[in-house]
Amino acid sequence: MSAKILEVKYLKKYFPVKKNMFGKDVEFVKAVDGVDFHIEHGEILGLVGESGCGKSTTGRTVLRLLEPTEGKIIFEGQDITHLKKKKLRSVYKHMQLVFQDPFASLNPRKKVGKAIEEVLFVHGMKSEAQRRERVRQLFAMVGLKGEEDKYPHEFSGGQRQRIVIARALAVNPKLIICDEPVSALDVSIQAQIINLLIDLKNRLGLSYLFISHDLRVVKYMSDRVAVMYLGKIVEIAPAEELFKNPAHPYSLALLSSVSGFRTGKNKKRLILEGEVPSPVSPPSGCRFRTRCNYATEQCSEIEPQIKCVGSNHFVSCHLY
Ligand SMILES: Nc1ncnc2c1ncn2[C@@H]1O[C@H](COP(=O)(O)OP(=O)(O)O)[C@@H](O)[C@H]1O
Ligand SMILES: [Mg+2]
Repeated sequence: MSAKILEVKYLKKYFPVKKNMFGKDVEFVKAVDGVDFHIEHGEILGLVGESGCGKSTTGRTVLRLLEPTEGKIIFEGQDITHLKKKKLRSVYKHMQLVFQDPFASLNPRKKVGKAIEEVLFVHGMKSEAQRRERVRQLFAMVGLKGEEDKYPHEFSGGQRQRIVIARALAVNPKLIICDEPVSALDVSIQAQIINLLIDLKNRLGLSYLFISHDLRVVKYMSDRVAVMYLGKIVEIAPAEELFKNPAHPYSLALLSSVSGFRTGKNKKRLILEGEVPSPVSPPSGCRFRTRCNYATEQCSEIEPQIKCVGSNHFVSCHLY
């Protein structure tokens, strides 16, 4: 078996936003624009970047909730890029999503345990007694023992996220895409959910793509971290290395915005000048060049390729 549970190759997702007079799409939001990464079995890969850089679109496209424009998604060695809906169901047994807003993803009129029983039914568990037992186990696993006969409104935000996690676990997945799973929660509750996710990962041998704009959370959670800017991954490295030796000028600026991460060559707070450019017409060459203190002429002419700058540390920047 390959050590990689997921491989994403040159993934693109463009959203059409304007048609010409003949009805042909002529303008696109290039939300994800050629992204490569992989996740190993048992690994947590963090994906960080400012709001709007394409993190959620990446996660949703990997799950085939959005149709990819280009590129490849390989899950456990199987190319699922163009898999038909019916066949995708067997992939969803192994790959699940937990996202930011648990309330939006729970049916307010259904007892939470019943909702999870339905998921089990759809995935082929026909015996009611078995389903009830499995739901009982799942609720215990996420710290909500015996609470399965309540409605969503009877729980707090943190508890609802536990229910969503239980539902994702119902089918025994191997990979969970967590899209800002704690961003809507009070800081005091965030740590509990993060620790639950880590504990479940270790106990069940899961892998996560952990999407967050919150650097502290990403640092705490991740084995490796990918930094995204305007539809591209600009740097990817083991978490400890990335936070100690960020290489890309964008990573440097991003880290310097959090006081605890200003260390070594990164002592001063760097202010990112200017606006994030539009993903409809990103800058030529390096996309970050319009906000980069180190930009030279070649940065506007040539797109930097991703280069290895250390053990398992990759960066796409002409400085290297
Ligand atoms: N359905 C859509 N149609 C058009 N543009 C979209 C759509 N979904 C997302 N976008 C755009 O794609 C870009 C990336 O969005 P998103 O993946 O949500 O970023 P992030 O999760 O990093 O905040 C943004 O510019 C966003 O406005
Ligand atoms: Mg998002």
